[in-house]
Amino acid sequence: MVQRDFTLTNTNLDNETSRRYLHIITWGCQMNVYDSNRMVDLLRPLGYKVTDKAEQADVLILNTCHIRDKATEKVFSELGRLKQIKEYRNQLGNPTLIAVAGCVAQAEGNIILQRAPYVDIVLGPQTYHRLPKMILEVARQSGSIIETDFPVESKFDFLPIPQENTGYSAFLTIQEGCDKFCSFCVVPYTRGAEVSRPVQTILDEATHLCSIGVKEITLLGQNVNAYHGEGPDGNIWNLARLAEKLSTLPELSRIRYTTSHPRDMDDSLINAHRDLPALMPFLHLPVQSGSDRILKAMNRGHTADEYRKIIDKLRKARPDIALSSDFIVGHPGENLKDFEDTMQLVRDVQFSQTFSFKYSPRPGTAAAISMHQVREEEKDARLQALQALLREQQDQFNQNTVGRTIPILFVGKGRKQGQITGKSPYLQAVHIQGDTSLIGRECQVRIDKSLTNSLSGTLV
Ligand code: 5AD
Ligand code: SF4
Repeated sequence: MVQRDFTLTNTNLDNETSRRYLHIITWGCQMNVYDSNRMVDLLRPLGYKVTDKAEQADVLILNTCHIRDKATEKVFSELGRLKQIKEYRNQLGNPTLIAVAGCVAQAEGNIILQRAPYVDIVLGPQTYHRLPKMILEVARQSGSIIETDFPVESKFDFLPIPQENTGYSAFLTIQEGCDKFCSFCVVPYTRGAEVSRPVQTILDEATHLCSIGVKEITLLGQNVNAYHGEGPDGNIWNLARLAEKLSTLPELSRIRYTTSHPRDMDDSLINAHRDLPALMPFLHLPVQSGSDRILKAMNRGHTADEYRKIIDKLRKARPDIALSSDFIVGHPGENLKDFEDTMQLVRDVQFSQTFSFKYSPRPGTAAAISMHQVREEEKDARLQALQALLREQQDQFNQNTVGRTIPILFVGKGRKQGQITGKSPYLQAVHIQGDTSLIGRECQVRIDKSLTNSLSGTLV
């Protein structure tokens, strides 16, 4: 499976008196989706409504991702399209503003303004709380603005609490940034140092989300299980303690968290999977490789056996826990034996769903300048073999749920007439023939069939 692209659509804004429109295109991870929603919240008081038609928008925002592949080129190609829209709208007398946000903005700042001078605003992931001010400034002076420094203030102190019902399942960023500097990864450079939000602000946001109907919250962070936020008691709370507190919110039935690092998977969090029914039996725990040599070259700080031990403990604590992971094939220096070690780790652990990628050199990272890059064809072959095995495991996992009755949280209408879709505790997509009045509720469903990427079932 590959990283998904998200586009925000015109779902939930209702200020009919406004005539200003905002179009936002979101690439990358769930945190970018969260950030895009926060940008929408920030611009709402200025009268902006979301539109899914770029041609209609007074403000066009690209929220970008720099993690892999030809991220920068993708941004410039999209900007080419937005430039035409801007010119066309300008001819009609409708001034249009283009902003580039997210990790490509952070990494490429000035280059974006040099190559695409028609861009009005470039802002990094830590400065988007200043977006309303920047838009007003551009409108006043009609010059470009770049804000990619890491500010002293935390953007979280300036973000409005989400106002609109964003559905029954919501994201909530609790931690951001990373100090681990894995050899292949740009995140420490684009998202900055690791920071945890204070417990009370998270509780306030979670309580508010529940009050607008949210039933499931996914706590987000680049290193979410390294969370160490200041608690209301003045002590530092870890993720287990935060999850325990959140599980006391009566309307909140499901808690998830992503993305975790094996090094921060401590016993308190493992035990929380045993003790907290609201903590879903699913864990995304990237391992990247099953070879100790490559794990060392990646600077991951653990061995393959240490990872296996964590999985054993988790399965003892919560026997039905479903495991997910990220893998990179073809990291510099990876030979066939290393790759076979990865295949063996996969056979040993048995994953329910995964993401796997070919190593992609990122400028400025340690691995990018290694002399031992793996040939592209070799990476292709390894990825194919790995994905075939992972696909088998995913199918097997899904097959194992057939015949079981499990609670499904319904989150929306299905693709076909009369269908509604929801999520299993193990993060499988499940659809049934059912009434839309069930959306937002958790109901027992008997799983009848496993399809390619989803399950179908019947309400019990
Ligand atoms: N090349 C390939 N995959 C990468 N990832 C991060 N950086 C790279 C890179 N340079 C993958 C890792 C990480 C996921 C979010 O993206 O597997 O866990
Ligand atoms: Fe990137 Fe490694 Fe930090 Fe994860 S832990 S964000 S892979 S540097």
